[in-house]
Formats: sequence, structure tokens, C-alpha cells
Amino acid sequence: MECAQVSDSEVFPVPEAWAKRALMDAAGFEAATRRVDQDPEGYWTEVAQRLDWMQPFTQAKDVSFHREDFHIRWFADGVLNVSVNCIDRHLPERRDQVAIIWESDDPEVYDTVTYGQLHAEVCRMANVLKARGVRKGDRVTIYLPMIPAAAVAMLACARIGAVHSVVFGGFSPDSLAGRIQDCDSRIVITADEGVRGGKTVPLKLNVDEALKDCPGVEDVIVVRRTQADVPMTPGRDAYYSELKKTVSDTCDPEPMNAEDPLFILYTSGSTGKPKGVLHTTGGYLTWAAHTHELVFDYRPGEVFWCTADIGWVTGHSYVVYGPLANAATTVMFEGVPNYPTASRFWEVCDKHKVEIFYTAPTAIRALMRDGDGPVARTSRKSLRLLGTVGEPINPEAWLWYHRVVGEERCPIVDTWWQTETGACLMSPLPGATPLKPGSCAKPLPGIMPQLVDADGKELFGAISGNLCLTDSWPGQMRTVYGDHERFITTYFTTYPGKYFTGDGARRDADGYYWITGRVDDVINVSGHRLGTAEIESALVANEHVAEAAVVGYPHPVKGQGIYCFVTLKADVAPTDILQAELKGWVRREIGPFAAPDVVQFAPGLPKTRSGKIMRRILRKIAEDDLTNLGDTSTLADPSVVDDLVNNRVTA
Ligand code: WT7
Repeated sequence: MECAQVSDSEVFPVPEAWAKRALMDAAGFEAATRRVDQDPEGYWTEVAQRLDWMQPFTQAKDVSFHREDFHIRWFADGVLNVSVNCIDRHLPERRDQVAIIWESDDPEVYDTVTYGQLHAEVCRMANVLKARGVRKGDRVTIYLPMIPAAAVAMLACARIGAVHSVVFGGFSPDSLAGRIQDCDSRIVITADEGVRGGKTVPLKLNVDEALKDCPGVEDVIVVRRTQADVPMTPGRDAYYSELKKTVSDTCDPEPMNAEDPLFILYTSGSTGKPKGVLHTTGGYLTWAAHTHELVFDYRPGEVFWCTADIGWVTGHSYVVYGPLANAATTVMFEGVPNYPTASRFWEVCDKHKVEIFYTAPTAIRALMRDGDGPVARTSRKSLRLLGTVGEPINPEAWLWYHRVVGEERCPIVDTWWQTETGACLMSPLPGATPLKPGSCAKPLPGIMPQLVDADGKELFGAISGNLCLTDSWPGQMRTVYGDHERFITTYFTTYPGKYFTGDGARRDADGYYWITGRVDDVINVSGHRLGTAEIESALVANEHVAEAAVVGYPHPVKGQGIYCFVTLKADVAPTDILQAELKGWVRREIGPFAAPDVVQFAPGLPKTRSGKIMRRILRKIAEDDLTNLGDTSTLADPSVVDDLVNNRVTA
């Protein structure tokens, strides 16, 4: 592998063995990139052949990002079924291959599901849904822990053409209710309880609480996980273990148009309520499967472990859809990285002979704090490739992951993408790309990143700017559920004719991209995406709060921490107790992962004369960068800044 063109000092060349073995080496990568440029229709048509189509498509791509003629369609007249592609087509050769290894929270308990068993289970769940009246196009809310039933429920929806909306089990009843209402779902699949890190999560009780505000929900299917005694509302709630006895274990797959919706997944934006990101059938599955193979150099039957929860897009694309479409053995982990000890990840790798391991930088940073010992006492000899996702990885954590976890033999793929993009867009390829710690390297073939300045002017060469994509790819989201106008205004109007990611990035002289983080009011806490506006609206819903402004600040483990400036109502005293109360309040309103790190009481917030909060100043204070507050003369009342600085709270 020739890597003389890479100028930075810290470059890790492609190991010889990798260049030889890989599905795509440097020459192949270049050829593919050239090919898609010269013959996009031919290239994309070929990529989609990896799926089984019930009826082939006649045109691969049909896209315009321009408002007058806006549309995104891929493989539009093709017909297929996602569950057939993830299960049925593997059965002739792989009926007895393990599809899912379930590692429970308790290190003593695990289970396996073969492709044959998965087929029967998915058909049963599909038949149960049908018996409850679920039809093609209906929305089904899934609020489950990391158990095989979660994957089964998703695939069962796909089998009958229902649209799933998975809600992360860490979300509060309120957040769950909002998501159920937004997509008008009349059925919820949940579990009695979840189990994480030795503690139970009251999923069914949360559903009961949420449904007080969701009169449209007629059916709740409860999967037994802990056998806890939970209240069951007659006529509405039923145990899955009972329902499944009444149905057959075969179910004809619904033929779906490529552009029929597959799922909705809610994600935070810079304003307003979370958006229902909608992905469709043919393009999404093509992209999830294609990138899973390419980025992880994946061959059928290898043991692949993505640690993400299925409540996030990473779990959708790299625990369930990508791996299963590629006939993988995918690991589903119910627990957390440090329970019962900081060796857990690596013990699980040894136990199940994991070959490819994919996690978030925040987990690596947290484990790094416990030193090399917990890693060193495991073997990890099955590992050959490591990956990261969800946030920028600092070179220090990258180097530790590479040296200590991978013993310098495993390349690391730092994959950049978003809920909106369906699956990876930028990443090194292990057999083709020399690695630079902290960089997501280069776009995959067919991905067209562009850096622009504030006015949308294209920036060339080694430079920083706002990251856009000038053309579509099959896995791109198609709309915001129920609000197509919001889709267009959020993503395609800041820089007309381009998809704006919301991220800032630097491109170096070798054409490598370095994501610098969000340039909007979205923060990334432990790889979880949150809108500062959502936290603010949770805070002002508290009876003591008059006004709130929330910003992110650099946090050594979480990536970003949550810093809240809160103005109390006139007669309310700013006490330590109230501070703690407000943290607990947000935790209950949104979910535990959204709990603020810092609450600072502020008699006033820095506002312009037109009343706009100047977040730039608040960010500087939260970051403790007090020498750099910039121009405060345009503030309505510049003196509020002194008070904020003097009363800064250290996390
Ligand atoms: C945001 C998307 C990707 C699926 C999980 C998160 C940040 C994601 C990276 C990376 C630097 C990254 C971006 C992006 N991000 N991957 N490898 N390096 N930043 O999906 O919740 O939709 O968040 O996560 O800021 O916009 P998400």
C-alpha cells in the first residue's frame, strides 16, 4: 500500500495482510469512486443487486435537491421485502447458523437465535400484529430493552409492511408519549422491565404513564423479560407469550415498494420537538447492507458486535438491518460497558469470539479511565477490526483503543454519519485507507461532501467549513414524518440545493475530513443527540423556572456535558436543593441521559436589544474560556455577563 501522499506525522498505514485480504483495497476504492462519478446509474444499479428484489427496478436514482422540483427516490419501481432479505434468503444455506447472540446484562446468561428460529419468531410476531389489526403502513411503537424480541419486532413490522418507531428504553414516559402521538401509533410493544447494569428499568410502568396522554393506543403487547408483576389493563394489554401460542409460525411477506416507509426514528434538532426521521425500504436496506460490508470488510458468518442500543440509528443499521442482510452473526448486548467490571466488553469478545467490534468514543474514554489492567487480563485474540461512531474521537482515546484493545493489529474505522443518513457516509476502509487518529478519513464511493462558508460558497483545498452533501445516496432520509416542509427547510434551505449536515469539518491536505462537531444548537452527550431547545423547554415547564438557556461544554468522558443557565421566577430562592431538583426534573422529563451536569442560577441572560439570547457568550462561560467573551457591547444589559462570570459553576 502506497501512502507517501499522506503528510501528517501520525499515520497508520494499511497492514499488508489487510490490503491482501480486504474486499476493497486502495486500487478498488479509487476505481469505485471513479466509476460512480462516470456512470452513477450503472454503479448504483449494481450496488442494489446485493438485495433480492421481487420485482426489479428500472431506474436507480431519481433525485432533485432543488425546492421547485424537490424529490428523492431510489430504485423507485422495485419491489422487495426487508425481512425476506434479512432472513428468508439465508435459510437454504444458513438455517442453523446463529443470527443473533444475545448477551444479557448478567454475565452468566446468554442465548442464541438461529436464522431458522428467527424466521419462525418473526412470522409469529407478524401474525400477532396482524391479528391485532395492524396493516401495511400502520405505525407500531417499539419500547423494548436490548433483547432478541426487539429485533424480532422490527423485522415483524417489516414483514407485514408496518412502519416501526423504536423509542429508546431510556426515554421518559413524557418523551415516549410525544413520539407515540406524533406518528399516531395505535399499538405499543414493550416489556415488563428492562435490565441494565444490574438495575431494572420500569418499561411497562412508563408505558402506562405515557398512555394517559395517548388515547389512540388500543393495544399493548408485553414481552416478559424479568417476569415482574406489572399492572395489565384488561382489553388493552396482553402478554406476547400468550398471544404467540395462538398464531402460526409462517407469514407471507408483504411485497413492498422500494419507496414505502420502513421506519420512523425520532431525533433531536436545533429547534422544536424531535423530528420523525423517515427511512424507506429499498434505499435504506441497500445502504445499510452495502456499508456494513464495505466499512467492516464483512464476510457472511463472521461475529459482529455493535454495542449500540436499537433505540438509536446505529442499532437499527448495525445491530439489525445491515448485519442480518449480510447473513451475519450479530451480537445484541443488554448491559453496559462497566458492569459488573470494566472488563465486560472484552470478556464478551472472548466468550463469543467477536471479530469486529464497534462502539462509541465515550465508552472508550470511560474505560480508559480504569487503565490497561481490565483490558490486559482478557485475550481479545478473535478481534481483527475495531470501529467508532457517534462523536469525534480524541487522538488520545484512539491511540489507547488501537494500542491496548487492538494490540496494534486491528485497524480502526472512525465512521461519520447521522440518523438522517441511514448508515455510514465517511470512514476509512480497513484494506484501503491509511488511518489518522481522530479523522473519519474520506467519503465512501458515491458520497459527495462539500465544505462551504457561511454564505454557502464552496471552499477548496485544506480548510474548515460547514459540511454539506451535494448529492443523494440510497440511505438518505426521505422526509420528516408528517411535516415534509420541515424536512426541506431544515436540511435544504440553509444552502439551497445542498443537504446541510449541521456539522462543521476540516479537510486536510490529503483530503481527509475531521469532524469538528455541530455548528447548530444540537449537543452530543455520550454519543446521544440532544437539542438544547428540548432541555430548555423541559426546564421552563418547571413551576420555579422563568427562563433557561442550555449549552454544551467539553466533557472529558461524555464528549459534551450539559450546562444550564436558569432564571428563577421572582419569589423563588436559588438554593442548592433547587439546583439538584432541577437536574432530577430534566432527567424525569426527557430521560436519565439528558440530566444536566451543571445548573447555574442567573438573574438575567445575555440578550441582544431585540431579545435574542447570545449563546456564544454562554458557551464561552460554560467552557471557562472567560478571556474570550468577544463583543458584549450589543447586549441590552452588558452587566449580566459579569454576574454570570462571577457565579460560574464548576461541574
Ligand atoms: C451526529 C449525528 C452516526 C450514528 C450515531 C449518531 C456526530 C457521528 C461521528 C464521527 C465525529 C460524529 C455528528 C453527527 N457524529 N459520528 N465518527 N465523528 N462526529 O447519530 O444521533 O444522528 O448524531 O453525531 O455531529 O451530526 P445522530
